[in-house]
Amino acid sequence: MGNKGFSGLCTVLCFASFMLSVHVVYGDLSYSVPEEMKRDAVIGNIAKDLGLDVRTLASRKARVDFEGTNKRYCEINLSTGDLITSERIDRENLCGKKPSCVLKIDLVLENPLELHRVSLHVQDVNDNSPKFKKSLIEMEIRESADRGNRFSIEEAHDADIGQNAVQRYILQKNENFILSVDSNKVELVLENILDREKKKEMNLLLTALDGGSPQRSGTVVIHVTVLDANDNAPVFSQAVYKASLPENSPVDTVVIKVSATDADEGVNGDVIYDFGHISDDDVNVFSIDTKTGEIKVTGVIDFEETSSFDMRVEAKDGLGLTSYAKVIIDVTDINDNAPVIHLKSLSNPVPENVSPGTEVGIINVQDRDSEKNGQVRCSIQQNVPFKLVPSIKNYYSVVSTGQLDRELVSDYNITITATDEGSPPLSSSKSVQLSVADINDNPPVFEEESYSAYVSENNKAGSTLCSVTARDPDWRQNGTVVYSLLAGEVNGAPVSSYVSVNGDTGVIHAVRSFDYEQLRSFKVQVMARDNGSPPLSSNVTVSVFISDVNDNCPQILYPAPEGNSFMTELVPKAAHGGSLVSKVIAVDADSGQNAWLSYHIVKSTDPGLFTIGVHSGEIRTQRDISEADSMKQNLIVAVKDNGQPSLSATCSMYLLISDNLAEVPELKDMSYDEKNSKLTSYLIIALVCVSTFFLTFIIIILGVRFCRRRKPRLLFDGAVAIPSAYLPPNYADVDGTGTLRSTYNYDAYLTTGSRTSDFKFVTSYNDNTLPADQTLRKSPSDFADSFEDLGVVGSVNPDNSQGICPWC
Ligand SMILES: *[C@@H]1O[C@H](CO)[C@@H](O)[C@H](O)[C@H]1NC(C)=O
Ligand SMILES: *[C@@H]1O[C@H](CO)[C@@H](O)[C@H](O)[C@H]1NC(C)=O
Ligand SMILES: *[C@@H]1O[C@H](CO)[C@@H](O)[C@H](O)[C@H]1NC(C)=O
Ligand SMILES: *[C@@H]1O[C@H](CO)[C@@H](O)[C@H](O)[C@H]1NC(C)=O
Repeated sequence: MGNKGFSGLCTVLCFASFMLSVHVVYGDLSYSVPEEMKRDAVIGNIAKDLGLDVRTLASRKARVDFEGTNKRYCEINLSTGDLITSERIDRENLCGKKPSCVLKIDLVLENPLELHRVSLHVQDVNDNSPKFKKSLIEMEIRESADRGNRFSIEEAHDADIGQNAVQRYILQKNENFILSVDSNKVELVLENILDREKKKEMNLLLTALDGGSPQRSGTVVIHVTVLDANDNAPVFSQAVYKASLPENSPVDTVVIKVSATDADEGVNGDVIYDFGHISDDDVNVFSIDTKTGEIKVTGVIDFEETSSFDMRVEAKDGLGLTSYAKVIIDVTDINDNAPVIHLKSLSNPVPENVSPGTEVGIINVQDRDSEKNGQVRCSIQQNVPFKLVPSIKNYYSVVSTGQLDRELVSDYNITITATDEGSPPLSSSKSVQLSVADINDNPPVFEEESYSAYVSENNKAGSTLCSVTARDPDWRQNGTVVYSLLAGEVNGAPVSSYVSVNGDTGVIHAVRSFDYEQLRSFKVQVMARDNGSPPLSSNVTVSVFISDVNDNCPQILYPAPEGNSFMTELVPKAAHGGSLVSKVIAVDADSGQNAWLSYHIVKSTDPGLFTIGVHSGEIRTQRDISEADSMKQNLIVAVKDNGQPSLSATCSMYLLISDNLAEVPELKDMSYDEKNSKLTSYLIIALVCVSTFFLTFIIIILGVRFCRRRKPRLLFDGAVAIPSAYLPPNYADVDGTGTLRSTYNYDAYLTTGSRTSDFKFVTSYNDNTLPADQTLRKSPSDFADSFEDLGVVGSVNPDNSQGICPWC
């Protein structure tokens, strides 16, 4: 029979109203198919009936699943959309005597997951003939039997149902018996009394006919023996015996005891029991004790296979007289089947950007037990962002409950547990592996907010400055970082002419040699981009700081370098010890220690007469000038910076101890050691004269103005030492020390880069006389260059540099 395989399917707890996102359509397809179709017979066209394109069936992986059986009765031909038979469908095997035989099929489509229920109504075909248990029935009837006495005959069986089952019987025409058939029994009815002397025995042919087309039939021969009077047939105590038997009852369990009594005495009254008609499947399940009529279990009682047995028992006495009774045994269910979880569909891998509530799979749970024993609850106990949403009957969809992040969790083991409601409950679990697919959702991130590189100037082109690193946790190309320079300018030139970045490693190289005096620092933007599509990127600033190397000699601004010209300072004869007579002014394009200048007199006409301030460059008398001192004094001053190693420059300074301009003609002698021609000397002398007169004139005018103001005032605040002889009379002693104030400021500016003041260059007391122009013309731009990078001084105002003249 095996019908329980279907009828006893699990009943799964179902919250039918809880239909969330699963696209389930109820029993929307129904086909009728005759049993015993040959393989590959077309049942119907699913594509057409669902209104789907045939191609979508293939792309959405259409397939069929069967409830409660491993057999696959039909398949879908994906190229035509036909539902075709793939295995013999035997209605009798599937459903036994059940009047309606429905095969339930789940049609699953993916993407989105969709479930259709297909009912396959299996139609009976008249493929079985009526059958009697034996081909010959022995029957013994007493001579004394009365007219109207009934003798039961075991009916014929036909595995088919309805019209195809046994419909009627035909008894061969005879003198004594007619046939009586009602729903339960087939009986011979005695119509004419038997006469043993006339006829001791007779054969009657009984034919059973079904109603199918073509009609099928089965026959049995009833052999009737006429006995002497006074014989009695056994009589069962009940016409129908009913018993209830728990499934899995052990062998030898007594199910029921039937009994029949016989009115005869002696051997004639001994009753022997046996089974009458019994289906082939049940033959070995029970045994009957021929003597006692006890029915015992001899085989496996499985509720899921057979939930009730319907048998005939026969009692026969010593004379061979028989009678029949029915035994109906109902099997009761025991919770002996754990739920089984089937994974019907799974979107694997699932992209990490799926929104919460997306279904990723469908599971089906089956429990072969019935009622409570087959009611199942399903759940996911772990702490995973997935839950089960009950769908129709025994289906659940696996739905995401939160945002997935492959970078945090890339694989899930989802354990689904199903428990039935039997007592004790049975449960089972299934592990579902789900991978999360990458989405390019992380931009590369630099390990540091910004990078700094330090490099000494005069570096080699190609040297490594620093390296940047960005991390991207995405997968494969979505996490592969490529570095590049962002376009930009440094000092008006493209940034790529300064540095380059290795796209794979992020190492930044210098493209050229840097000059600190030109460029002290610059910034470049480096971009890290992944290879995703679309790519994500981030930017970082790399600051390159160039450090100074002592590669510039001090540059002497005043006095002008030897050879180019020659300058003379006048020292009043009355100068006291400590008087400021002049000042050497030098700059160094380097910075810091490399530009920290010190001044030394390396050679002098009279070593004891003048000293120089080591850091100020101020030349002072060391003692009072005496008449004995030579009028012409010559100093060679070396200016050194403090770099490692230090660089130096030297200059000569000519000092003329004199109050009297008339002595100036002798100046020519001061350049005795120079190669100047006499003509040059005269020219210079002439110039000095002219400018001296001119200066005197200005001094007088200024003197007048000064006198009006009454109060002495500093004429210049960041200036070069002016030979005191040319100062207004009240100036030299302004601070009572015979020195000029503020004269050291200039050096301070140069070395500290103070932002407090523009540079002010004094072109000396007479532009015409002294070639200060030449020296100074170059300087402002030099300074400007070296300070521009610091952003301190934008420019030197040329007007300023002229306007500093103290006489203005
Ligand atoms: C599907 O049907 C087509 C056309 O009838 C046939 O050629 C093909 O072999 C069938 N495919 C399968 C898998 O049965
Ligand atoms: C998931 O299960 C598989 C097989 O059962 C196992 O190899 C793997 O380690 C498990 N992964 C996690 C994250 O538990
Ligand atoms: C990278 O991300 C994109 C979406 O952003 C995705 O389609 C692709 O499959 C990912 N690549 C890998 C190798 O995971
Ligand atoms: C990086 O800079 C480039 C060029 O300025 C710009 O297009 C891009 O949007 C920037 N990326 C980020 C993440 O700021």
